[in-house]
Amino acid sequence: MQRDVIIALDFKDGQTALNFLDKFTEEKPFVKIGMELFYAEGPSIVKAIKERGHKIFLDLKLHDIPNTVKGGMRSLSKLGVDIVNVHAAGTIEMMKAALEGVVREDGSRPLVIAVTQLTSTSEERMQKELLINASINDTIVHYAKNTKEAGLDGVVCSPLEAGMVKDAVGKDFLTVTPGVRFADGDKGDQVRVTTPARAKEIGTDFIVVGRPITQAEDPVAAYRRCVKEFCE
Ligand code: C5P
Repeated sequence: MQRDVIIALDFKDGQTALNFLDKFTEEKPFVKIGMELFYAEGPSIVKAIKERGHKIFLDLKLHDIPNTVKGGMRSLSKLGVDIVNVHAAGTIEMMKAALEGVVREDGSRPLVIAVTQLTSTSEERMQKELLINASINDTIVHYAKNTKEAGLDGVVCSPLEAGMVKDAVGKDFLTVTPGVRFADGDKGDQVRVTTPARAKEIGTDFIVVGRPITQAEDPVAAYRRCVKEFCE
């Protein structure tokens, strides 16, 4: 898959999400369905959005014993989504089980990526609460290497970390990066942010953009601006 902009559909219910997508009459953006929307609507919202022709990143961040993750992934993969994810903290064995679970009967499968450290986790909290005595960057690179060893396709990380991950694990290893803001935009609660243009320079594969598009006065224009800065 080539470089693309993924819109985070962080909406409270399916109707609001579908009304939002109705605004896009000329293009079919790649979208991310997260916990809020999936837990509210279940698989039917995935099917409805897929039927409209959108690619889907189903962002449910699985983290459980390997056998349970394998079964969970089997169910999610049947929905025909394009990207699914797990927490790398679940271990290499769990990630391998996830990969076994996603393979469909016809041999196809979605891309499987892993969250390294959430961008909301500070180095201080990671060290104090999780008792991880390494730096956050070393931890991210280490988890990315584990992800690669398990055979997964890439990681979710901050765009500011994507270069470091690519240098350590290889340029073909995918990086999917939230935390993107326009240079003249509001950061909201995100801390480590960068622009679509800078994310392109760093070399990330997919940017995940929520509020700068969903809350824009003209979401289609905001989406097009992202695509122009990041993809062209
Ligand atoms: O609105 P905004 O552009 O900040 O949305 C970013 C999206 O990416 C949200 O759906 C958020 O849950 C997700 N995300 C993130 N940081 C991570 C992992 C996921 O912001 N580390």
